Amino acid sequence: MNLQLSDEHRMIRDMARDFAQKEIAPIAAQYDESGEFPYETIMKMGAQGFMGIEIPEKYGGVEMDTLAYVLALEEIAKVDGAHAVVMSVCNSLYCYGILHYGTEEQKQKYLRPVASGEAIGAYALTEPQSGSDASNIRVTAVLSEDGSHYVINGTKSWITSGPVAKYMLLFAQTDPDAKPRYRGVSAFLIDTEEPGFERGKTEPKLGIRASATCEIHFDDYKCPVEAMLGDEGMGFKIAMAVLDAGRIGIASQALGLAEAAYEASVQYAQERHAFGRAIGQFQMIQQKLADMKCRIEASRLLIYQAALAKQAAKESGRRYTLESSIAKLFASETAMWVTTQAIQIHGGMGYSKELPIERYFRDAKITEIYEGTNEIQRMVIARLETGLR
Ligand code: CAA
Repeated sequence: MNLQLSDEHRMIRDMARDFAQKEIAPIAAQYDESGEFPYETIMKMGAQGFMGIEIPEKYGGVEMDTLAYVLALEEIAKVDGAHAVVMSVCNSLYCYGILHYGTEEQKQKYLRPVASGEAIGAYALTEPQSGSDASNIRVTAVLSEDGSHYVINGTKSWITSGPVAKYMLLFAQTDPDAKPRYRGVSAFLIDTEEPGFERGKTEPKLGIRASATCEIHFDDYKCPVEAMLGDEGMGFKIAMAVLDAGRIGIASQALGLAEAAYEASVQYAQERHAFGRAIGQFQMIQQKLADMKCRIEASRLLIYQAALAKQAAKESGRRYTLESSIAKLFASETAMWVTTQAIQIHGGMGYSKELPIERYFRDAKITEIYEGTNEIQRMVIARLETGLR
C-alpha cells in the first residue's frame, strides 16, 4: 500500500481542515444543542466542492480520488460529526450510485446539482420493519397502464438529510412475488418537490443532532420510467454496492471523531494536574493514550486500504466489500472506545457540555449502527471469508 500523499491530497486535506476550523468549529456546539440543520455551512461546503469529490467535473464534481475523499471527510468529522454525515451521504450514497448506474440524462439531471453543491441528496432504503434485513421492502412501485411512470406508495424511515434533500435515491418493490425477494427491488431517482412526496416525523437523536433525519411517505407519487436507476430488479444490488462506498465514508467520519477526542485528551493530560503532577505522567493515563493512538492509526490504515481498493475497483470492477466492512467495523468501534476513554481522562469535564468531548462520544455511537450495524459488518466479513451463509 503506497501511503505517500500527493500534493493534491495534502491540498484537499488542508482545505477541508481550514474550512472546518473557520466555518464549522464556531457553530458546531450551538447547532448540536438546538438540533437545527446548519444549512448555510452545508451549502458553503457544497460550493467548495466537498459534496462531489470523486465526481467528474463534467457532472459538477471536483474529480479527485477516493483517498482525497476520505482525507477531506476525516477533517470535517474532526470538528463535527453532523456535517460529516451529510457530506458522506451526498458523496457516497447518492452521487456514487448515479455515477455508476445512471444514464447520461440522469447524471445531468440528478447528479450534477448535488455534486456541485446546489442541492442536497439522500438515500432511502430503510423502512419501519426493515433495517438490517434490507431486502424486506414494502414500499411499492407499480408500473402505470400506459407504461410512462411508476406509482410509488409507502413509508421509508431514518432518512439522513430527508428533511432537506431535493433529490433521493429510493429503493422500492416492483415485483413482490420475486424469488428470492431481493430480485423484486428496483431503484428510483426521486424529486422531493413533486406531488405525492411527504416528509413525516423528524427523529430526535442522541448524537449527530444537527443532521436532519426523518420519515418520508409516498402517496401515489408518479416517478417517470426514465428515473429508474439501472434495470428493473437490479435495485438491491445497487443498494449494496452503494453501501460498500458509503461504509468507507462512515469509517472516515468515525476516524475524525476519534482523533478529535484523542487530541483533546493529550492536551488535557499535559495541562491537568493531580497529586502534584500532570495526569499524563500517571501510567494509567499513559496506557489509555497509547492504546487510543494505536487504534486510531490502525483505523487510518484500514480506511486508506479500503479507499485504495475502491479506487482500484474503478478500473477492475472488483468488489471491495471486505475492505469496506473491515474499515467501518474497526473505525467505528475505535471511535466509540476512544471517545469513552476521552471522557474518563477528562473526568467531570468530559461529562460537561462546556467541552466538546461528550458530543464526540454521542456522535460516535451512530457509526456503529448506520450503514449496516457492526453485527451486519461481522456477518458480511465472515460470509466472505468462509463462503458460508
Ligand atoms: N455488492 C453487490 N452485490 C451484492 C453485495 C455488494 N456489496 N452484497 C450482496 N450482493 C448481492 C449478492 O451477491 C446476492 O446476489 P446473487 O444472488 O446474484 O449472488 C444479492 O445481492 C443478495 O445478497 P444476500 O443474499 O447476501 O442478501 P441478504 O438478504 O442476506 O442481505 C445484508 C445481506 C448484508 C444483510 C444486507 O441486507 C445489508 O447490508 N443489511 C444492512 C442494511 C444497511 O446497511 N442499511 C443502511 C441503511 S442506509 C443508512 O444507514 C444511511 C444513513 O443513515 C447515513
